[in-house]
Amino acid sequence: MLRIIKLRQKLAAHDIQGILITSSPNIFYLSGFTGTNAMLFITQYNNYLLTDFRYVEQAKHEAPDFELVRADKDVLREISKLAEGCTTIGLEEQVISLAQYRELEKSLSAKVFKNASFILQEMRQVKDEREIEILKQAIKITDQAFDLILPALKPGVREEEISLKLEYSLRKLGASGKSFDYIVASGQRSALPHGVATAKKIETGDLVTLDFGAKYQWYCSDFTRTVFMGKPDAKHQEIYDIVLRAQLTALEAIKPGLTGREIDAMARDVIIRAGYGEYFGHGLGHSLGLEIHEQPSLNTREEKVLQPGMVITVEPGIYLPGWGGIRIEDVVWVTNSGVEVLTQAPKQFIIIN
Ligand code: GLY
Ligand code: MN
Ligand code: MN
Repeated sequence: MLRIIKLRQKLAAHDIQGILITSSPNIFYLSGFTGTNAMLFITQYNNYLLTDFRYVEQAKHEAPDFELVRADKDVLREISKLAEGCTTIGLEEQVISLAQYRELEKSLSAKVFKNASFILQEMRQVKDEREIEILKQAIKITDQAFDLILPALKPGVREEEISLKLEYSLRKLGASGKSFDYIVASGQRSALPHGVATAKKIETGDLVTLDFGAKYQWYCSDFTRTVFMGKPDAKHQEIYDIVLRAQLTALEAIKPGLTGREIDAMARDVIIRAGYGEYFGHGLGHSLGLEIHEQPSLNTREEKVLQPGMVITVEPGIYLPGWGGIRIEDVVWVTNSGVEVLTQAPKQFIIIN
C-alpha cells in the first residue's frame, strides 16, 4: 500500500484524478498481480484491478489491496464507468498502443489524457530493501552460472549449446528464466555488441563475449565477461586492460549527486584517450529491476542525478569490426556514500586453454 500512497501523492501533484496502468511490470509493481491480462485504474479513493475470468482467483490472491472488476470483453467500457468522477486521466504513453488510445478516446470522450509514464518510472528507479535483496540473489545466480559455464567453453562447441547450458544453470540455481536473449558472441562476432548465440562454433583464437541475466522473483540481473580461447596476443590484452580501466574508473567515481552523463564521460574518456573512442558506441550503463532496461541510464545525454537505492549496470566495451570486441559488465547499487558492486565474478582476463 505504501506504493499506492506514494502514487496518489504524485497524481495529486500533477493534477491527475485517475491513472490507467496497462504495462505488466507496473501492474506487478503496484498490485503484485502476475497474470498476463489486467489493467489497473487508481484514483485518490479507489484501486481497481480489471481482469477476465481466467485470472479472477489469481488476482484475489495476489492483489488483495485491489477491488476486483471482472471484465471479460469490453474492459474500456468498464473503465469509463470507473472514471466518471475524473476529468484528467493519466496514461502510460510509452506502452499504450495507438489502437488502445483510439478506443480510449471513444470510450472516454469527455476526458483529458495526460502522459503519466514518468510517474512510475520515477517510483521504480529507487529500489527498496526487499527489491535489493531480490536483485542481489538474481546477481548471485548469474555469477554462479558464469563459474559453471567456463568448463563448457571448448573449441568445436556451438554458441547455441552454451546458451542452452546457461539456461539450464540459471534455472537449476533458482531463476525462473533469462532476463533477455543469451549473447554468446565468439571470434569476429564478438564485435557485435548484441550478438545473440548462433550455430557458429567456438574456435581456438576466439574472443568469446557472454552477456546474460537471470530472472528471479520477477527481477532481472545483467552480466558480461569476455574470455579468450587459447593464447591472446598483445592487442587482446591491451584492449581488455583499457575496457577494465574504463570500468574501474566509473566504479570508483559513482556516488549520489552525479549525473549519468558525468559518470559516462569518466569511463568514456579512458577509452577516448587510448584511441578507441569511436569503437565504444553505446552508453555506459542502464538501471535495471523488473525490466532489464530502466531509467536512469549512464550515457552521453543523461541529465538525471544518481540517488541512493538505484541499481545500475556499468558496461564499457570496445568493438573492432573484423577483429572482435570486449565488454565487461557489472551491476552496482548506489548507496548513501558511493557504490556497492554487487557482481562478484572475477574481472581479470580469463584465458581458456
Ligand atoms: N544485454 C543487454 C545489456 O547489457 O544491456
Ligand atoms: Mn546491460
Ligand atoms: Mn548485459
